[in-house]
Amino acid sequence: MSLLKLDIYHVRNIQKESINPSPAINFIVGENASGKSSLIEAIFILGRAKSFRSTSIKSVINQDQNHLIVSAQTLQPDGRHCHLGIQLDGKNAQIRINQQSGQHKSDLAYALPLQLIHPKSYELLDAGAQVRREFLDWGVFNDDKNFLIAWRKFKKALAQRNSLLKTGRVDQLNVWDKEFVYYGTIVNNSRVAYLQKFKPIFIEIISQFLNMNLIDISLILGWEASKELQQVITQDLEKDLRYGFTHNGPHRADVLLSVNNCLAKDFVSRGQLKLMVLSLKLAQIQLLAKEDNNLACILIDDFSAELDSHNRAKLLHYLSAMACQVFITATELTDFGDLSQITTYKVFHVEHGHIKPSFDI
Ligand SMILES: Nc1ncnc2c1ncn2[C@@H]1O[C@H](COP(=O)(O)OP(=O)(O)OP(=O)(O)O)[C@@H](O)[C@H]1O
Ligand SMILES: [Mg+2]
Repeated sequence: MSLLKLDIYHVRNIQKESINPSPAINFIVGENASGKSSLIEAIFILGRAKSFRSTSIKSVINQDQNHLIVSAQTLQPDGRHCHLGIQLDGKNAQIRINQQSGQHKSDLAYALPLQLIHPKSYELLDAGAQVRREFLDWGVFNDDKNFLIAWRKFKKALAQRNSLLKTGRVDQLNVWDKEFVYYGTIVNNSRVAYLQKFKPIFIEIISQFLNMNLIDISLILGWEASKELQQVITQDLEKDLRYGFTHNGPHRADVLLSVNNCLAKDFVSRGQLKLMVLSLKLAQIQLLAKEDNNLACILIDDFSAELDSHNRAKLLHYLSAMACQVFITATELTDFGDLSQITTYKVFHVEHGHIKPSFDI
């Protein structure tokens, strides 16, 4: 999948811009506050229907406007063209795919798989389990088309169960317990199957970026792995009732990354942490390409942050060989280093919210 034409209206300081990106690497350069991250944010909104910088979409909409629109003509893996569009006004999201309105966020996410790497990405290994669960589930969602339905039903069962636990209505628990266990087991099995395929690809990629032995990745199920989910919630019932929520289950899952048998975040440097996150994200893209013949679009904001020139060169080389579409920002073109080995790319200059193609190769 790649974007052939991208139109952005009213995203931060970008009023109305249209670009024809390269199907390979797109270098986005411009001074501070020119609008580089806003361009990356616009593409992200088109794929995920939310911003990665602000929880409220209102702050993303240009301050003189009351809505934003991002639309694109894309080339899908089967060679077909697809037209995607999203309009957000802070309350409602209108999503159109091939002129059909009323589409869901998940339809957009399937049509435009995106991976984002930005200065806060190392939080993937630093922050709470939820971001890692989301990371894992993005991969599972793209890998197993049955996952989304099971995941939604599981979330509903969990919410209903928690509300019954809070009010002590034990008599109605049985029906939601059954749903919780049934769909929770499907969610868990899909995660286990995904991680099994993911792990060798990740280990292969990380070995190219980090010279470290004994790197491992494993899934924490969210309950004692030797037990069945049904057994766990039966055992936990008294505790769950006392505190009014479900203590254990797939909603507590986590992904554990270790180096030399230590938790990676406690062992490696900041730059190494970033390379680990990069490898995790690139591995998801590689797996998607291998299994589905679908290439995700990679967004890298602030390329030079925390990577030395050697690692930056390695990453660019890797991205170029991956043959997927990349949007990558920096304040100067020279921040990207030597581009003579990169076969196909375009450069865009951003100035006061205007995006101008500079030259292509
Ligand atoms: N809702 C908004 N309406 C108009 N302008 C906005 C809005 N939100 C942010 N801006 C402005 O848009 C400009 C571009 O911001 P952006 O973060 O895209 O810059 P950047 O090129 O990524 O800069 P840097 O190199 O510092 O990361 C900034 O001046 C910012 O203050
Ligand atoms: Mg920026």
